[in-house]
Amino acid sequence: MATSRLLAPNSSRSRFKTVLWIFLGFTALFVFITSEVLLVTDYPMYHAYRLQVIADRHLLIPHTLAGIFALLIGPINFSSRIRQRHLKFHRVLGRIYVISVFIGATTGVTLAFGRPGFPGTCGQAAAWVVCTTAAFITAHNRHIVQHRQWMARSYAVTFTFISSRVLNLWPRYWSHLGDTLSAVGVIAFTLASLLLVDLGLNWRELTTRRD
Ligand code: HEM
Repeated sequence: MATSRLLAPNSSRSRFKTVLWIFLGFTALFVFITSEVLLVTDYPMYHAYRLQVIADRHLLIPHTLAGIFALLIGPINFSSRIRQRHLKFHRVLGRIYVISVFIGATTGVTLAFGRPGFPGTCGQAAAWVVCTTAAFITAHNRHIVQHRQWMARSYAVTFTFISSRVLNLWPRYWSHLGDTLSAVGVIAFTLASLLLVDLGLNWRELTTRRD
């Protein structure tokens, strides 16, 4: 069961966690530079989208702030050391994470309203809210193993903001996906992220046989 894996910290698991966070950090940095910085500096390929972003700024500012909070709180709250030493801090950040996800999801759905990507964004927002609510309830009910599993799923959805932008610099990906494929793409990224997390949570059970 995933339970045994989550309750048994060992050096190879903590090494895996470190490598994973470094990889996710570099991916986020790459996307920040190739998507957000280039968007701000008016990179020609992003020009039309930039105009849309400027027009949406009233919703995008709270949306982005909430998303950044969620992105940054994840790695802090997944740290076993911080959680063990500063449980109150972990709880406060956890509540800020939940509020951020709710703000990020509602502003995201409002931004997409009336656009072709609306169904995809609704699916993504629903997954984000469901996983985060389940994480909050399991923590409240002191089911800590399940709380960590739901948080991993919730953070996987948070991270789709990064993973879905990794290929942005590739012109065919950026401009030729089309409206329908873009909407399907968002759902595909969300489902693939959730699937990856569950494969990770069950890795031991998938790779070893019970005596
Ligand atoms: C880590 C979390 C997130 C952050 C930091 C974030 C931030 C941003 C930023 C900076 C933009 C405008 C620039 C760009 O597209 O790159 C944006 C657009 C948008 N985001 Fe998010 N976001 C996050 C997660 C989400 C999620 C989970 C959803 C779905 C509920 C979502 C829905 C949207 C929508 C619909 C747009 C507008 C896209 C468009 O105009 O075509 N975001 N977000």
